[in-house]
Amino acid sequence: MSSTPRVELGDEHLDATIASGMDAVEEELRRVLSEGADFVTDKVMHLAAAGGKRFRPMFALLASQYGTNPGSREVIEAAVVVEMTHLATLYHDDVMDEADRRRGVPSANARWSNSVAILAGDFLLAKASAIMAQLGTQTVAHFAETFGELVTGQMRETIGPGDGDPVAHYMAVIKEKTGVLIASAGYLGGLHGKASPEHTAALQSYGHNIGMVFQIVDDIIDIFSTAQESGKVPGTDLREGVLTLPVLYALQEDTPIGEELRGLLTGPLDNDADVERALSLLERSTGRDKALADVQRYLTAAEADLAQLPDGPATDALYKLARFTAARVG
Ligand code: IPE
Ligand code: IPE
Ligand code: MG
Ligand code: MG
Repeated sequence: MSSTPRVELGDEHLDATIASGMDAVEEELRRVLSEGADFVTDKVMHLAAAGGKRFRPMFALLASQYGTNPGSREVIEAAVVVEMTHLATLYHDDVMDEADRRRGVPSANARWSNSVAILAGDFLLAKASAIMAQLGTQTVAHFAETFGELVTGQMRETIGPGDGDPVAHYMAVIKEKTGVLIASAGYLGGLHGKASPEHTAALQSYGHNIGMVFQIVDDIIDIFSTAQESGKVPGTDLREGVLTLPVLYALQEDTPIGEELRGLLTGPLDNDADVERALSLLERSTGRDKALADVQRYLTAAEADLAQLPDGPATDALYKLARFTAARVG
């Protein structure tokens, strides 16, 4: 397994605390994922071993710093549950999106098959459920709601906006499919760290707002960066006919670029030349800048959530994390 990603949050003591918590998360993740039959272990370990930012468990550990029980065993277990849930959705998402690569390696569906990838995701959810049972009914109830919303978001995306406003539809989708799980990391970190309900609520809301930032930025990267930068194939969303925020804004443009895009993007793109053409039109459109304005809006909302939290190294770190999330794109 690759080593745990290290982060610099601006405070040496906090960095060391979070790094040792992340080591514990990694160890527990590896232990739990090795509990099945041999032929299961290599499949369910595939994406965990390939890398990933471990953004959600790290945020859960940071959130726990606001309580009287920071970095406790329960916090570690809660952080593992969130990463395992995230992993399960990646297995399933790559089947839905017919994605070939993930975390710089072949996706499980590409490497084995759709069936294996779906079952590996289910196994991860089964193991996450077992840990949650230990953490108590409040965690199980919270997860039930979180996972329900996540699945609703994936289905909302699949069904499409119909006659509704496509930008509002997009915002609802990303809140459900991404914002809710990052919010959950804040909530569970606060809950099991024994932070006050007010602080836990602020952490959950911050998670939602940086989740929105995170997904919009990810969707910008899908269009405007190389496979090397993202670890995924550029234009994957376009190929699948999934219109993300920069594309939706470009499609609204009353210009020749907008007009050509409206003619081109009527469904999934099945040839490379069309994808290249769409990417080049998007680059010359206002889509990226308009999407970045929304990123700024959610960043400001995330900072307003942080104003509800006490000053200190953890809050400084969360300010940094928010800006870092936005800064993945210029
Ligand atoms: C990928 O999440 C799925 C999205 C919500 C965009 P991450 O970008 O956190 O993926 P890993 O965990 O680092 O691979
Ligand atoms: C991310 O979906 C959200 C979930 C996995 C639930 P996407 O399809 O937008 O993310 P990538 O681009 O595959 O990581
Ligand atoms: Mg995908
Ligand atoms: Mg998807």
